[in-house]
Amino acid sequence: MASDAAIGIHDLSFATSEFVLPHTALAEHNGTEVGKYHVGIGQRSMSVAAEDEDIVTLGAAAAAPIIARHGTDEIRTVVFATESSIDQAKSAGVYVHSLLGLPTATRVVELKQACYGATAALQFAIGLVHRDPTQRVLVIASDISKYELDSPGEATQGAAAVAMLVGPDPALVRIEGPSGLFTADVMDFWRPNYREAALVDGQESITAYLQAVEGTWKDYTERGGHALEEFSAFCYHQPFTKMAYKAHRHLLNTCGYDTDDAEIKRAIGQTTAYNAVIGNSYTASVYLGLAALLDQADDLTGKSIGFLSYGSGSVAEFFAGSVVPGYRQHLRTEAHREAIDRRRPLDYAAYRWLHQRSFPADGGDHPTQEQTSGTFRLAALRGHKRIYERH
Ligand code: CAA
Repeated sequence: MASDAAIGIHDLSFATSEFVLPHTALAEHNGTEVGKYHVGIGQRSMSVAAEDEDIVTLGAAAAAPIIARHGTDEIRTVVFATESSIDQAKSAGVYVHSLLGLPTATRVVELKQACYGATAALQFAIGLVHRDPTQRVLVIASDISKYELDSPGEATQGAAAVAMLVGPDPALVRIEGPSGLFTADVMDFWRPNYREAALVDGQESITAYLQAVEGTWKDYTERGGHALEEFSAFCYHQPFTKMAYKAHRHLLNTCGYDTDDAEIKRAIGQTTAYNAVIGNSYTASVYLGLAALLDQADDLTGKSIGFLSYGSGSVAEFFAGSVVPGYRQHLRTEAHREAIDRRRPLDYAAYRWLHQRSFPADGGDHPTQEQTSGTFRLAALRGHKRIYERH
């Protein structure tokens, strides 16, 4: 099959924010038993963006190590996937292109379909590489998840970006056909243009996600995909890590298998390590799951991984990846752990202040406080233009 040519993820790097809010602080503030967060939804803490961080600075921070390792020569396309977009016209990827010094002979575009956007970007990248195997595509998934304060969704916020270099003869994971697809017009989670925080029907969103799992799997098997037993692990979109457990249990039930807790943990446990401490990173979430799996598993050489990407609204895709021999030499495990460990804990009041702030829309000069210790920062909004700096 043409789509089984060796094309896939050649490199993967992620970045997260300057700050972190432990769920213990949230629980203390709202009087929730912390077990609801730690066990009930499977979250320990959530990344919180500094005043001078946004999806551009996170995306640039995720992609910079990839450029440092591979250079810019073969990159002809940048696809930036996000659902926390900063502009209705200009792609956030154009700012990243500039911050990273990519060649002018590049196409840059932004993609949106809730948390599914990065998987669309990955599949489009594979199509482009298939057409011209001399090029590589830089896929960036970057999001800051924001729900209303004191709402049930508040505990499932987060912030992170994943950058992936997609090309021929990949060093990490070969992406294989077929894909199982599912689209349904549902209002489970959405964010109208005039709102900063998402609207969500929590229980409806869980049901919609599980229906999408079932729908993608049906299409995947009808198109001749692998049998369930052929997969060594499964990377699910993780709005909160417990959702991956719910989803995998549902998939096993759909396929007529017993839902053995130990087997579910074996199949997905290692994919949840980064998401449990970063929180929901929307488009980046499923690929943070992949990073955690590759960084922690003993040896996955030649093994098949199942991916379930879900974006509210809703669009979902199930597809397979095969882990390439020698992949461990190309991992960024240390850098990933450091990105998580370097975050500075916030107290609840400081988190609340950051959550409530927004730029005035008056076209004036609005510098930001210098908070991030990262390489890239959003220095100001000046005359309605975002001003970025590289240190
Ligand atoms: N100890 C242990 N567990 C506890 C507990 C305690 N003290 N107290 C409660 N729990 C358990 C509950 O039993 C429940 O477990 P089950 O789901 O297994 O039944 C779990 O903790 C959560 O409790 P509630 O259902 O009462 O929680 P809630 O109503 O406050 O909200 C939520 C949960 C709906 C996920 C909410 O956080 C939310 O709306 N989040 C945003 C929406 C979301 O993430 N949806 C996921 C699918 S949509 C998607 O994937 C796209 C996306 O990225 C948004």
